[in-house]
Parts: sequence; structure tokens; C-alpha cells
Amino acid sequence: MPVIQTRQLSKSVGETSLLNQITLSLEAREQVALVGRSGSGKSTLLGLLAGLDLPSSGEVWLEGQPLHALSENARALLRRETVGFVFQSFQLLPSVSALQNVLLPLMLLANSSERRNTVLTRTAMETQAAEMLDRVGLAHRLHHSPSTLSGGEQQRVAIARALVHQPRLVFADEPTGNLDGKTAADIESLLFQLSEQQGTTLLMVTHDRHLAARCQRQLHLVDGELVENHGNPANKDRNQRERHITDEQEASSQATLHRSLPDETAA
Ligand SMILES: Nc1ncnc2c1ncn2[C@@H]1O[C@H](COP(=O)(O)OP(=O)(O)O)[C@@H](O)[C@H]1O
Ligand SMILES: [Mg+2]
Repeated sequence: MPVIQTRQLSKSVGETSLLNQITLSLEAREQVALVGRSGSGKSTLLGLLAGLDLPSSGEVWLEGQPLHALSENARALLRRETVGFVFQSFQLLPSVSALQNVLLPLMLLANSSERRNTVLTRTAMETQAAEMLDRVGLAHRLHHSPSTLSGGEQQRVAIARALVHQPRLVFADEPTGNLDGKTAADIESLLFQLSEQQGTTLLMVTHDRHLAARCQRQLHLVDGELVENHGNPANKDRNQRERHITDEQEASSQATLHRSLPDETAA
């Protein structure tokens, strides 16, 4: 069974179509790049896949459950158990420590009634959160608040928070867009490495061609429509022409690589 699957997923706001009939399927342990220029609908798609937003039509099946047909509470519960999310802008709680930030998903899970029989003690949760921070290289920063950490360190905390409950699926929306080149490369490697170690499916929005090439699959969003590169180099040139990805679009993607601006399209 795919970890996540969509059927003819569409999203419109008013008269404007943002996503048009997206059908895709991600299997366990796949690492997939989602690319497309600014405004092509990448964040909108991630929001639908994570059940943060509802489609105008079509279906999203997360681990065999119909996200599109569930109540907001049921979606939140399924998301807590199954999904980790890494944002470009980190989105950490500013006033509490790195450890508290990483504890949060575990505490939320412990509070959902369905999980009461598997609840960890507070001490066990703290140990798990501290171990996760150790794995992202922040064992020496457990009690620092985000404002005292560098951008790269903050994103490491965000990655620890996204992975601490061992989700089957991790979404990363331009996770290195706010970081300098060297830090971005380190963070990308970390995400790949941890998702491999944990057997997690990873769907990452990126403008970085090298990073996209590192993924087993590349999904391109072009004006709300999805086209896939199955990674066969022999097909690459032809695929690119079919995808209408022009040199200009490529250049604009490259220009946004590693820029240090906030995501103007973030919801
Ligand atoms: N709630 C909304 N209402 C109207 N337009 C929206 C809304 N959310 C996103 N959009 C528009 O949809 C398009 C896709 O947005 P987005 O998914 O953020 O693109 P990307 O992440 O690829 O840059 C953009 O043109 C954006 O302005
Ligand atoms: Mg976006």
C-alpha cells in the first residue's frame, strides 16, 4: 500500500485554479523532490497532502485513510501520528527551549486518546527528544531557545521536531531556502540521512537541482499540473521539452537557490 496517494486532486480559490487533477502515489521509503517555480502550487500541494487544507475536488489517501473525507480533528490526529513537516521558516516556538520544541509532538501524541495505551512517561519522552537532538548534532544546545541559535541550528531543531515521533512520511517545504550554501548542504544531507535511517518517505520541495537529482523521483509542478521525471537520463532532454520547462524558468529556479529572503508565498 502506498504511504500516500492522491486521485485527481484539484484546488481552486474563487475562479483561480491552483492545482489541477493531481494523481500521485508515494511508497514507503521513497525520497522524492517536488520542484516548480514560485507560485506553481508546491506549498498548496503539501498542505493538501498533510491534511492541513482540503481539496476542492479529488481524494487524498494517507496510509489508506481518506484525508479528504475526515473531520478536522480526525485529520489532525492522523497527521500527528503519521506526518512530520519541516518549513522554510523553521516555525519553532520562540520562547521555549530546543528540547521543549522537540518534545511537543510527543506530548500531543500522548494526549490523543487513541494512543493512551502506548503513552510514554514524561521522562521517556524527554529522553527521546534529547536523543533526537543529539542525532541532529545539537546535544550541546538542548536548553537554548531558538532566538539564541543560528539559522542552521534552528532548522536542525525543526528537523528533530519533525522526526522525533518516527513519522512514516516527512514533508519539507524549501527547508534550506533561508540558509547559506554550506549550511543548506549540511541540512539537506541530514534530512536524507535521517529519513533513510528511519525508513521514512520524504517529499521535499527544492529549487536546488543537485538536491533534486539526489532523489529517486522528481515531481515537477507546472501551473498546477504534475509531471514526473522517473530519473532515466536518456529521457531527460525530451522530458524537459515536454514539461515546457524553459531556460528562463530554469534560470529563475537557480536564482532563488539559497536566497535569504522569506517565502513570499508562504501561507
Ligand atoms: N488561499 C489562497 N488564496 C488565493 N490564492 C492563493 C492561496 N494560496 C495560494 N494562492 C496562490 O496559489 C498559487 C500557488 O501558491 P503556492 O502553493 O504557495 O506556490 P509555491 O509554493 O509553488 O510557490 C500562487 O499564485 C499563490 O498566490
Ligand atoms: Mg511555497
